[in-house]
Amino acid sequence: MQIRDAFDRPLRDLRISVMDQCNLRCIYCMPKEVFGANFPFLPPDKLLTFNEIERLVKIFASIGIEKIRLTGGEPLLRKDITSLIKKIAKIEGIRDISLTTNGILLGHYAEQLKNAGLKRVNVSLDSLNQAYYGKMNGKNFPVKRVLHSIEQAAQVGLQIKINMVVQKGVNEEDIASLAKYCFEKHYILRFIEFMDVGNTNGWKMDQVLPSREILNTLRNIMPLEPVNPNYSGEVAKRYRYVGTDKEIGFISSITEAFCSTCNRARLSADGKLFTCLFATKGTDLKKRLRNQKKSDEDIKAFLNNIWNNRSDRYSEQRRELRKQPTRNKIEMSYIGG
Ligand code: GTP
Ligand code: 5AD
Ligand code: SF4
Ligand code: SF4
Repeated sequence: MQIRDAFDRPLRDLRISVMDQCNLRCIYCMPKEVFGANFPFLPPDKLLTFNEIERLVKIFASIGIEKIRLTGGEPLLRKDITSLIKKIAKIEGIRDISLTTNGILLGHYAEQLKNAGLKRVNVSLDSLNQAYYGKMNGKNFPVKRVLHSIEQAAQVGLQIKINMVVQKGVNEEDIASLAKYCFEKHYILRFIEFMDVGNTNGWKMDQVLPSREILNTLRNIMPLEPVNPNYSGEVAKRYRYVGTDKEIGFISSITEAFCSTCNRARLSADGKLFTCLFATKGTDLKKRLRNQKKSDEDIKAFLNNIWNNRSDRYSEQRRELRKQPTRNKIEMSYIGG
């Protein structure tokens, strides 16, 4: 029987962070003043091994997980990541594996990733303009190199989605040009409202550009029509350019919370399970995986119990929960979005 949480939501999507480090320092995710040389990143011996991840995915698949997303930090920094993809691709019940990356190393690994069984990637790209992109990625990393990398991925046949985090007063002027670029290249662009993930990105409501405003701007340039969700619980609201098969999407956690259909669980690189992106506490699965006395059945029962008791709906409760001054949320770079 399909397990359900306290609000009758099933469990379908497992997002696995394989690494909490990143080669960028995006201002909305890992501000460099906080994530500097002395930041205590996870040491390699604290990370789940690929065999442990494989075992967990098999158990999760037996209780309803169908989709796997590999994230970081930056997942392509994890040594031999393609071998993990190969393992996951073989697991019965998993019908979709994807990866969220900043694109820097994507071109280099594209062919290997494709051969390992990956079909699609979501790439973070907040602007085409070097001044904006350089500022937002915190390292003045050249946008040209990422664009080239994405092209290489498209050339080997990986399906591409582009994630643009929109921050009012930072990159909003580049919305139309990125939309045009993605239209021409046949990449699916999604606009993401700047979110209050973690405690370090200085989030303020007045830096959020509501998706509705972006939609209205783009509709003045080219007609758009809504598209039905690809699957139940899809995070992005999708639109198609009328008369084409090209799409864009909006991820509007701030102005149109989507908690009521949230079927996602998140696993950190050190093996903690979180049932919300804005959670403050996780459950240690690594300890249980490394306990010889715990069988797969024991772990399965344990996971069932966690999901049955889940009642998270942070985005719907944001206003009230933000009033709690001591609420220490996990960071995006640790849990991967
Ligand atoms: P596909 O539709 O399968 O391509 O995946 P996705 O949209 O879940 O993928 P992606 O990892 O690219 O997520 C895009 C953005 O949506 C990221 O900024 C995530 O943090 C955000 N997001 C994904 N799931 C949730 C969620 O459950 N809650 C909130 N608030 N944001 C989410
Ligand atoms: N708000 C919205 N999106 C964010 N991301 C990272 N931090 C934030 C934030 N504070 C996005 C990244 C990436 C995805 C995993 O999450 O750009 O595409
Ligand atoms: Fe790295 Fe992605 Fe965070 Fe940017 S958003 S710092 S690329 S993990
Ligand atoms: Fe799911 Fe939490 Fe995001 Fe709501 S805020 S959609 S419960 S991850």
